[in-house]
Amino acid sequence: MKKEKYELQYGRLLEKIEKRIEKLFNNKKPASLYEPCKYALESGGKRLRPVLLLLSTKAAGGKFNDAYNAALAVEIFHNFTLVHDDIMDNSPIRRGRPSLYKKFDTNTAILAGDNLIAFAYKLLLKDCQKNTNQIIEIFTQGIIDVCEGQSLDKEFETRRNVSLREYRNMISKKTAALLTVCTGIGGLIAGANYEVVRILMNYGKNLGMAFQIQDDLLDITADEKTFGKKVGSDLIEGKKTYLFLKALEKAKGEDKKKLLRVIKNSGIESNEIESYKSIYEKYGVPEDAKKEIDKYTRSALNGLNKLPDNEGSLMLRWLANSLINRTK
Ligand code: IPE
Ligand code: IPE
Ligand code: MG
Ligand code: MG
Ligand code: MG
Repeated sequence: MKKEKYELQYGRLLEKIEKRIEKLFNNKKPASLYEPCKYALESGGKRLRPVLLLLSTKAAGGKFNDAYNAALAVEIFHNFTLVHDDIMDNSPIRRGRPSLYKKFDTNTAILAGDNLIAFAYKLLLKDCQKNTNQIIEIFTQGIIDVCEGQSLDKEFETRRNVSLREYRNMISKKTAALLTVCTGIGGLIAGANYEVVRILMNYGKNLGMAFQIQDDLLDITADEKTFGKKVGSDLIEGKKTYLFLKALEKAKGEDKKKLLRVIKNSGIESNEIESYKSIYEKYGVPEDAKKEIDKYTRSALNGLNKLPDNEGSLMLRWLANSLINRTK
């Protein structure tokens, strides 16, 4: 019963977010800039980040209506990172359609990304009635963190000896930082005190860690149509994912040699994906990833115990539990 209630509420929030996204670039010119911006934001995304921000505002005692512009701002920020990430990762498919740089071209995608981040700031400022400096500081630091994380992600592609500790630091920046921004800004818009904002940010950080490890897992286990991205692309690009590093740690003999070849050749061919998936399975690596996802999800949930129950905090709890079973 509760579950259905939460799903309904999530649906209502999504509807409002989608409506606002639709209107974002209406009547804007030149079309050569705004068509791609529209394309980037079009539906198919889970809209996890704006929902997180709205629920955090509510959890901290604020109103959804005070946070819709900021919610849009974090979704735009996210889409900016995706547009540039697909160029960096040579990813042809996103949300089941050609990636922006494939649909248009790379230069168009770079500029659309730049413009998106400016739009994000404009919207964010509209919801900065309280705690303006802190909100802008958190948002700006979030962009810096994502850039640092993305840089490490690229750097690791050509490095042999990346540790799981370094991997965790990298994903805390490229992915968890933005989820932390969402929950932190959500709390600040509600005018929450330092302790509540800290609890919310800690939740966002742990959820973000779980989210990226699950993205790594789905990259090899997902159904391509549902996932909306090319399955196996992390291996093709030679990414140091949780699964790859864990397999490298556990594999022996020929299997280990085969994994080392990924590093030497900066990735694999499409027709080799299945054989690498078999190595992962042989060493129980998908199970290790699931345990790690559960561990971070539990940490996210444990921290929330310190917040009083209300619609926002209960839905944050439900959200963390439902993300464990996501397929896209
Ligand atoms: C993809 O994010 C990028 C990662 C941090 C793994 P999402 O999985 O939230 O992508 P959309 O917005 O739902 O398409
Ligand atoms: C996600 O990294 C981090 C950012 C997009 C900033 P990935 O490269 O794994 O994301 P996907 O899998 O392409 O969505
Ligand atoms: Mg990437
Ligand atoms: Mg990518
Ligand atoms: Mg990925």
